[in-house]
Amino acid sequence: MIQAKNIHKYYGDLHVLKGVDVHIKKGEIVSIVGASGAGKTTLLQILGTLDFIENKAESKLIINNTLVTGLTEKQLAQFRNTHIGFIFQFHQLLPEFTALENVCIPAFIKGTSKSEAETRAKELLDFLGLSHRYNHKPSELSGGEQQRVAVARALVNNPELIFADEPSGNLDSESAENLHNLFFKLRDQFGQTFVIVTHNEELANLADRKLTMIDGKIV
Ligand SMILES: Nc1ncnc2c1ncn2[C@@H]1O[C@H](COP(=O)(O)OP(=O)(O)OP(=O)(O)O)[C@@H](O)[C@H]1O
Ligand SMILES: [Mg+2]
Repeated sequence: MIQAKNIHKYYGDLHVLKGVDVHIKKGEIVSIVGASGAGKTTLLQILGTLDFIENKAESKLIINNTLVTGLTEKQLAQFRNTHIGFIFQFHQLLPEFTALENVCIPAFIKGTSKSEAETRAKELLDFLGLSHRYNHKPSELSGGEQQRVAVARALVNNPELIFADEPSGNLDSESAENLHNLFFKLRDQFGQTFVIVTHNEELANLADRKLTMIDGKIV
């Protein structure tokens, strides 16, 4: 699903990623752990095509058999919208839209019809135990509910690949456990691939594989 080779990233003089190689198979749940500042979020953003790779010519990023380092900006945006879902530490829902609308937005961007998008969004919200919250705005939802809406939004286009950055970082332990169980349920049911950055040791150890980052490298 993901083949990344020799990934480098600099912020000014700061060499943040120092030649990262990663291979992730379809349907795998991989966790990434490591100290604060090790480069986990930076790596996730790059693997998720949200950030660009330095020295592209000497690096390679293949996702789902597509050489993403060879795509134009426009192709990349389309590729991301179709194949990749993101769950951020802070849900980043749009405050003026309802839960249902927030979940539908990536589907609208993809060009899905309103009725089709809403059907899919409701299916996901129901699956996530939010059938009674379609019309609530983020500010009217609990933190755990907001996070589940963000999960539904990440899944609405059926992406093969989901990146999550500290998805349970601001949840209580019960909501965190429910969310973690959900990832495994989704993988088993839909065969999706998950890459999860986490400081939650339990979640990290539940993964099929745990990668540790130290100082810009996977060790
Ligand atoms: N936009 C930026 N400009 C300059 N430096 C940055 C920028 N983003 C991140 N850094 C630096 O890059 C390093 C890696 O940051 P990154 O966010 O990837 O760490 P992390 O492993 O996700 O840490 P945490 O566990 O605290 O989230 C840090 O030293 C950080 O200060
Ligand atoms: Mg981070």
